[in-house]
Amino acid sequence: MRVGVLTGGGDCPGLNAVIRAIVRKGVKEYGYEFIGFKDGWKGPLEGLTIPLDVSTTRGLLPRGGTILGSSRTNPFKIEGGVEKIKANLAAQGVDALIAIGGEDTLGVATKLHSLGVNVVGVPKTIDNDLNNTDYTFGFDTAVNIAVEAIDRLHTTAESHHRTLIVEVMGRHAGWIALHAGLAGGATCILIPELPFSIEKVCAYVEARYQTNYAPIIVIAEGAVPQDGDMITKDATLDSFGHVKLSGIGEWLAQEIERRTGKEARTSVLGHIQRGGTPTAFDRVLATRFGLHAITAVHDGDFGKMVALHGTQIERVLLSTATEKLKVVDPALYAEAEIFFG
Ligand code: F6P
Repeated sequence: MRVGVLTGGGDCPGLNAVIRAIVRKGVKEYGYEFIGFKDGWKGPLEGLTIPLDVSTTRGLLPRGGTILGSSRTNPFKIEGGVEKIKANLAAQGVDALIAIGGEDTLGVATKLHSLGVNVVGVPKTIDNDLNNTDYTFGFDTAVNIAVEAIDRLHTTAESHHRTLIVEVMGRHAGWIALHAGLAGGATCILIPELPFSIEKVCAYVEARYQTNYAPIIVIAEGAVPQDGDMITKDATLDSFGHVKLSGIGEWLAQEIERRTGKEARTSVLGHIQRGGTPTAFDRVLATRFGLHAITAVHDGDFGKMVALHGTQIERVLLSTATEKLKVVDPALYAEAEIFFG
């Protein structure tokens, strides 16, 4: 059996740990051969490969990024894309493919499976918004990076009696903002799921100043004010139709200054949240996902994604991972709201 592996979409701490686990178990237990496809779906589309074996995957556990490279290539937007992928997999003697990715990469995997390609999916995204898994690896690392930033911002905010706004990633789901804001003691947390009232935010800011503490606001890049629109960097779309976000934090700082007369500044964490070494939690989750993904291949259980349910890794239909987004439950947000102001 020859198995192809690819990583697609935004990179994420833990990708290398998944690759390492897939290869280690596949070689040791099943005697499989592997081939890495470079840069997401671009690899099988253009026949771009790199060797994958136990020696090329040693030392990967703590390493961020992905040794396979990544891209947001959508083969369904390319003329003859599916046929090219099928031809390249056949040319490389690939019997099965493991796709490690988020909604876009796994959406492509789902369609390819329905067209006869043997695919198993592994859920990845720092945003934690993939359906049918409790957590994706990379999320814990991103939250910890954001919490460290918030801890640091508290002291400088207090020295200058300023409002500091931390803009974190999260296009449609506010998981990073919610967890980092709760763990970091934010004055308020703003998420894409619940359009926010600027009047309410300013009231929280004023209330925090009354207690002689400086406000810290955590806002997801996809958060929107009531009566407002999502703020984008520019109008260009990637091949999955996504715009580039960022700017809502700066907008909020200006609005708070204008309405309260108090200084406000914004820190945009951006790609820092995706870089560097994974936390121990993410290393373990990524490793377990990798081990279970290669076992699914061994069982011939294609069209499935490995998923975390409680403490168990289970297999779910690949199609269910992307049929809807896993967004923040308003009841969970309400728990955090007790600490606002
Ligand atoms: O998909 C994960 C994510 O981190 C989003 O939260 C964010 O909007 C996006 O990636 C940005 O990625 P890139 O800059 O690579 O397009």
